[in-house]
Amino acid sequence: MAIILTLHGPNLNLLGVREPEQYGNETLGSIDTRLFDLANQLGHSLSSLQSNSEAELTNQLHATTADFIIFNPAAFTHTSIVLRDALLAIAKPFVEVHISNIFRRESFRQHSYFSDIAIGTINGLGAEGYLLALRYAHIYLSGVNNVLWTCEKSAN
Ligand code: DQA
Repeated sequence: MAIILTLHGPNLNLLGVREPEQYGNETLGSIDTRLFDLANQLGHSLSSLQSNSEAELTNQLHATTADFIIFNPAAFTHTSIVLRDALLAIAKPFVEVHISNIFRRESFRQHSYFSDIAIGTINGLGAEGYLLALRYAHIYLSGVNNVLWTCEKSAN
């Protein structure tokens, strides 16, 4: 059994009412419930946190004991060297998730401070992206892709 942390960045507490044409109608509570259920089925322990504060997200990253992180940095994707540095400092494997396809949107959304240090990214698959990231975490934690991750880390 592994520990998985899902971190949701600013404004994602408003999912369900916020720009439904971009982010769909599902609330964060409903997404988290689906994540908890799937983690349970896969035999992992999951915790989920949302914050609108860069400092709070940074502190959560410093404190986490998780083996794997699923992270939607939301608008901090495009601005936060602080959160990038926190992820580099803790050196935990993570997948970057975006509900919308950031590459089909405004140009300022097309740069991420996280994609080059993530194992991978999921964009534009709606809330299902979180569930797919969790399924990937399960595969990764079973050891299948660890060799790839180690090679990538040593190449950088
Ligand atoms: C988002 C995309 C970001 O550009 C935006 O600021 C968000 C949500 C997404 O999940 O599609 O808040 O991360």
